[in-house]
Amino acid sequence: MSKVTVVGAGNVGATCANVLVTTQVADEVVLLDIKEGVSEGKAMDIMQTANILGLETRLTGVTNDYEKTAGSDVVVITSGIPRKPGMTREELIGVNAGIVKSVTDNVLKHSPNAVIVCVSNPMDTMTYLIHKTSGLPKNRIIGMGGALDSARFKYFLSIALGANPKEVEGIVIGGHGDTTMIPLTRYAAYRGVPASDFISAENLAAVAADTMVGGATLTKLLGTSAWYAPGAAAAQVVAAVLHDEKKLISCSALLDGEYGESDLCIGVPCILGKEGIEKIVEFDLNEEEKALFHKSAEAVHKTNAALASAL
Ligand code: NAI
Ligand code: 2OP
Repeated sequence: MSKVTVVGAGNVGATCANVLVTTQVADEVVLLDIKEGVSEGKAMDIMQTANILGLETRLTGVTNDYEKTAGSDVVVITSGIPRKPGMTREELIGVNAGIVKSVTDNVLKHSPNAVIVCVSNPMDTMTYLIHKTSGLPKNRIIGMGGALDSARFKYFLSIALGANPKEVEGIVIGGHGDTTMIPLTRYAAYRGVPASDFISAENLAAVAADTMVGGATLTKLLGTSAWYAPGAAAAQVVAAVLHDEKKLISCSALLDGEYGESDLCIGVPCILGKEGIEKIVEFDLNEEEKALFHKSAEAVHKTNAALASAL
């Protein structure tokens, strides 16, 4: 029996639970929120699609009852506040640090062997916080940001190329922030052929720029941050772990010398399998990409420094 818990039944958490159920990733999914009745209501609504869609996965909603999450293989943490138009992800640290810490403590009491997927923002710093406070081995803590940013990169690439999104490749590394993420345009490809063979350098730069502000663009349109692609990206990470897929996905991982950086969580290409982050893959970055990565790491370190006063 495979079991996944999603903490936070807001926009991202409920969407993630819905994708986990509709793609039947696990046998059992528990959706937990602090707000009375919300997760029960959303779980009931989602489960009422089971007959329509012919689904076997069982979803239960609970209000802050961690006993019901016991024995989870993977736990996704989406609890916390999202950003509003004009806000950065970094501004959420004060409220979200306390929430993420208490949620992690509660989750691990009942699922000591779980792999944790952190979604709450500022995600790289929240992932680092879990490393600092949980005592879990580093492979079992995964920050979800690069999966989403890479999906956005491939979306904008597919439009620029006039291509089927499934035939486009692209990866975003670095921090999960508007100015810290690094869409690796040099590695962008259309059926294995460099994207730069099909579109101009200016077009490719525009694709990268649209990707970097992808979250902010949606926040402005929606009045709050996005949820469909974030929820699906979190579910993609869960599936890779639960099904031991050995997929290469950009995730926020604790670095210990990789890419010349240490003691921070930041987006890097990771092989995901049943142990969580099974390997960090080191791309052969050129000098410009290396410089961008170190600048991004500096910014993430700066946000991490605010943790001490946030807790
Ligand atoms: P939301 O406001 O719709 O949902 C958050 C939920 O967390 C609410 O239902 C709230 O009741 C719950 N919550 C708050 N404190 C809790 C606690 N102590 N225990 C359990 N539940 C608690 O927000 P949304 O849009 O779902 O975003 C959630 C988080 O994910 C935000 O921090 C947002 O910035 C982040 N996010 C991260 C992305 C990424 O790629 N890493 C992408 C999109 C959002
Ligand atoms: C996003 O990228 C705000 O992290 C959130 O949509």
